[in-house]
Amino acid sequence: MNFHKENKELQSLLDNSSSESTYLNNLNIHVGNNEHENIVKAMRKFGERVLFCTGNRAMRHYGFLDIYLKLFSKFNFRVVYYDNISVNPTLKQMEEGLTVAKEFNPDFIFALGGGSVIDTAKVISVGLFGDIWDFVEKKQEIKKAIPIVASATTSGTGSHVTPYAVITNTDTLQKKTLKHDLLLPKMSINDLDIIKYMPKYIIATTGFDVLCHATEVFTRNECTNIAENFCIKSCKSIRENLVSSYNQDSVKNKLGMIYADIYAGIALALIGTHVPHAISHPISARFQNINHGHSLAYITAETAKKLIEKKNSNLNNKFRFLSDILGGSSDFVRAVNNYKQLLGLNSIHTFNDMDCQLIYEDTLGYRRDSVDRSPVVLLDEDIKDIIFHSLKNDNAKINKGHHL
Ligand SMILES: [Fe+2]
Repeated sequence: MNFHKENKELQSLLDNSSSESTYLNNLNIHVGNNEHENIVKAMRKFGERVLFCTGNRAMRHYGFLDIYLKLFSKFNFRVVYYDNISVNPTLKQMEEGLTVAKEFNPDFIFALGGGSVIDTAKVISVGLFGDIWDFVEKKQEIKKAIPIVASATTSGTGSHVTPYAVITNTDTLQKKTLKHDLLLPKMSINDLDIIKYMPKYIIATTGFDVLCHATEVFTRNECTNIAENFCIKSCKSIRENLVSSYNQDSVKNKLGMIYADIYAGIALALIGTHVPHAISHPISARFQNINHGHSLAYITAETAKKLIEKKNSNLNNKFRFLSDILGGSSDFVRAVNNYKQLLGLNSIHTFNDMDCQLIYEDTLGYRRDSVDRSPVVLLDEDIKDIIFHSLKNDNAKINKGHHL
């Protein structure tokens, strides 16, 4: 791969921290462009039978599907293709992909897509050896998986560098996370040739997701110095690149967001998120047209406001520190609302009281563990306030555009 200057910083951060964690040692991240042939050659070590997962019609449109299919053919891979993967991928879609995989018996999976495609690939990789929902519900232990090579087409979900997969169960209307070391892709490819085509709305929503990963991890009480460093690097890159990446077609800014995503994704894998992500999953599970980043845009400012009201000095110092880095002049709530405004992440759905009540019950039900990771204790009434205020008054809460 062609390595960019920034890659040296990433590599040195990883080298300095890798003795602390097996996960960090297992990361294999490539950032570059114009290297499709080398990527395919590198996959040889995983076998010759590849399940090629993608859900992105843009990959066909821009020719990357053909590029990869031709290269797989040139290097004598046997390929089966699976592409019925949507935003908020469902258990049913994953099971359908699994049926394809079981018939083909792949040696490994190549996932070319955003978080939804990569998560689907992860679930199929372990689903070959047990029941997917039993793994989620911890009725069965994950013991085996086939390798995954993930080429991210967005810079936001962090899925290409994490051992997590998120699954939407349309029967139970739940969105749950599967976590296991075996879910970490063996290669994480960040291909600027592809990522530069990200549509504006996806730049906005995945970029907002990155912001939430970095700031939620940073504000967790369990956050370590190593994870803090990754969060800070991510927030600096967000400030320099996110809004510019949204507004103009600059390769430099898009590369900057690739790194912001990698840094925040690593921090996410090391520590994990808390309340905004706890509430965002029930929103997307019940309203599947609302993607992950957009659901976070509804909820994050109101959550921060509630946490800041608790007057925990350590936490509030962290929020001030973060908003200074993000360009919010020490006011984190205002910084978040500015990003929402500048990225055009306004309300796209009208929620009624019953919608809010169901999201509240889901959050305190199957997302309770995640709520309990809040850096200060939030009462059930606080969670209710956050949900009702965020979802019912969304537009009224957006500040008029402050530039960052
Ligand atoms: Fe996320």
